[in-house]
Parts: sequence; structure tokens; C-alpha cells
Amino acid sequence: MKHRRCTPVVLLGTGMSVPDRILTNKDLEKIVDTSDEWILERTGISERRIAPAGEVTSDLAARAGMAALDAASVSPEELDMIIVGTNSPDKLFPGVGPMVQSMIGASRAGACDVQAGCTGCVYAMMLASSGIRAGFWKKVLVIGAEALSRIVDWKDRNTCVLFGDGAGAALLGAGEGEDGVLAAEVHADGSLSDYIELPGGLAAHPATNETVEQGLHFVKMKGNEVFKYVNRVIPPFVRDLCDHAGLEVGDIDAWIFHQANHRIIEGVMRRLDVPLQKAVINLQKYGNTSAASVFLALHEGLAEGRITRGDRVMLVSFGAGMTYGAMIIRI
Ligand code: ACO
Repeated sequence: MKHRRCTPVVLLGTGMSVPDRILTNKDLEKIVDTSDEWILERTGISERRIAPAGEVTSDLAARAGMAALDAASVSPEELDMIIVGTNSPDKLFPGVGPMVQSMIGASRAGACDVQAGCTGCVYAMMLASSGIRAGFWKKVLVIGAEALSRIVDWKDRNTCVLFGDGAGAALLGAGEGEDGVLAAEVHADGSLSDYIELPGGLAAHPATNETVEQGLHFVKMKGNEVFKYVNRVIPPFVRDLCDHAGLEVGDIDAWIFHQANHRIIEGVMRRLDVPLQKAVINLQKYGNTSAASVFLALHEGLAEGRITRGDRVMLVSFGAGMTYGAMIIRI
């Protein structure tokens, strides 16, 4: 059989949407036993956005998705597929993807969700590019969207100070010439599933008065275990990914990490011996927006001119699973 060349993948546009309401560290001091100093020093976060009552993940996702389409002058009818990475869907089913499909009028598009913790962004980007490379789809809207404020325990200072709401999107398309996706890889280690979980309300612990009293419907995280794990696995992983792409870590023009903690980004960059200035960081404004965070940083990096055409950008994420993954994309 004649060898068929893969269809090249290109980034056509990005967008984002965050709720207007800002919750500062000072505001949190009134809710739990914490301080602006502790949060800033331990995480780098100053404030985060909170969705108003009635606004759900699909509202944020649809706005971010439309922004990416507008940026690329592509109409919703041209979309073949919508993939949404989320850990805080409106409902378990139907997914956020089909809701977005209907809200934006993407009449021809298939739509589904990817649930892979914060790494959902990289998984979704990898699935989208695989579908384009294989010739199944020509235009895929990839969205990371979260309304985490709805599933966080506002009495638990270990978690509630970290998370925020928001959505970001990237429109990928079939291109010509060089493939924009230079390398990508994802991993999972389910034996560490208790590091980050939302245990209640489904098959393992169907909702009862007891599960609600025990707060099993809220995010639980062993933050310190996650911190140590990520610092151990991510530096050799991204170094190997550069190797696979025939690149040195110094060849990456911009690093976009999951915006979980400033100290994690700093630590990984130090281990890689890459200047911190090459990392796009916006977690001070939005906190950890889980599957959305890489898209928010990519969009702002482009909007602010930190990332420009031709740049090689490393997208890296990690989260519940434990999952982690990365993609090197030429803009
Ligand atoms: N305010 C004040 N004190 C606090 C707070 C708070 N908000 N939260 C915890 N503390 C206290 C703890 O109780 C503890 O006190 P103790 O020593 O008296 O027991 C102390 O601060 C230190 O707690 P640690 O958990 O060891 O603090 P650490 O330096 O590890 O920082 C943090 C915690 C910020 C959560 C960090 O571990 C982290 O960022 N982990 C990674 C989280 C992450 O990356 N998640 C990504 C995936 S999320 C997803 O997939 C949905």
C-alpha cells in the first residue's frame, strides 16, 4: 500500500473567557483560617475568578470557543469536532462538548468531553491533532473549561485557596507544509488515584445523607504528595520529549505549564536549567483553573506578544489520575 503522509496540524486561533467576579486572598481570609502572605508565598496566587450563580462550565466554554473561532475568522458551521477537557462538567451527562456544540451552532460537529484531571488539556489537544493527522477532521475546537468553585469545599483551606473558574480554547486545523505538532506524550498512574479525587456522588459512593455530611462531593487533594510527585516526574519527562522531537530544552521558546503553583514552575525550570522568563505565568490572576489553565496562559502569551509566530511552545500539565502530559507545538 502506498504510504500516505499525515495531514499537518496548525494552530488557527485561541480564546478565553473568565467570570467577572474576582475573589482575592484578602477575601479568603474572611472565609477560612489563611492569609494573603501564606497563599502568595506558598502558591504565587493573588486572586481567582468565581462564576456567578446560574453560570455553568458550558457557558464559559462556549464563550472561549467562540473567541477562538472569531480570532481565526472561522464559523461554527465549519467545525468537524469539539473536544472539551473538564473536571467540573455541568452534569455528568450529557457532556459539556454537546452543550457547546448546540450553544454556538456548530451544526456539523461531533462533540465530547475528556476527563483526565488537569491534564485534560493535553489529552484533548493530542486527540484533536491525531484526528486531523489521520484525516478524520479538518477543524477541531479544543476547549479547557472549569467551574471548580462549585465542587470545592469552601471550609477546606487546603484546597479552596487554590482553584478558580475559567475557560480557554484553541482551534486546530488541517494545514499544509510543516506539521505544527512536533511531539506529544501522555502518561497515567492510577495507583496514585487518592492524591486528587472527588470520591462521592457516583458508583463508588452514591449520594446519601452520609456522603454529603462527609463532604465526599468535594475535591480532596494530598497537595504535598502531588507537589513532590510533579517535581520528580516532570523535569525528566519534558527533557525526553524534547529529545524525541530532536530538540534541546533551550530550543523551546516558551514554556506553558499547568498553572497550579509558582514554586512548581520555578522548581522544574531550575532543574531544566532554563531561565524562568521563558515560562508564561498567569496563575497570580486566575489560580489553578485545572484543564483550562494551559489554554488561558497560551492565549494570554499570544495576546501579549510573549509568544509569536514560529515559536516552539511546550504545553505541560499534570493532575488527578495521576496523569501528566506535554505537547511541543510550533505556533
Ligand atoms: N493557609 C494557611 N495555612 C495552610 C493553608 C492555607 N490556605 N493550607 C494549608 N496550610 C497549612 C497546612 O495545614 C500545614 O500546616 P501544619 O504544618 O501545621 O500541618 C502547612 O500549611 C503546610 O502544608 P503543606 O500542605 O505541606 O504545604 P505545601 O507547601 O505543600 O503547599 C500546596 C500546599 C500549595 C497545596 C502545594 O502542596 C501544592 O501546590 N501542591 C500541588 C497541587 C497541584 O499541583 N495540584 C495540581 C493538580 S489539581 C487537579 O488536577 C484538579
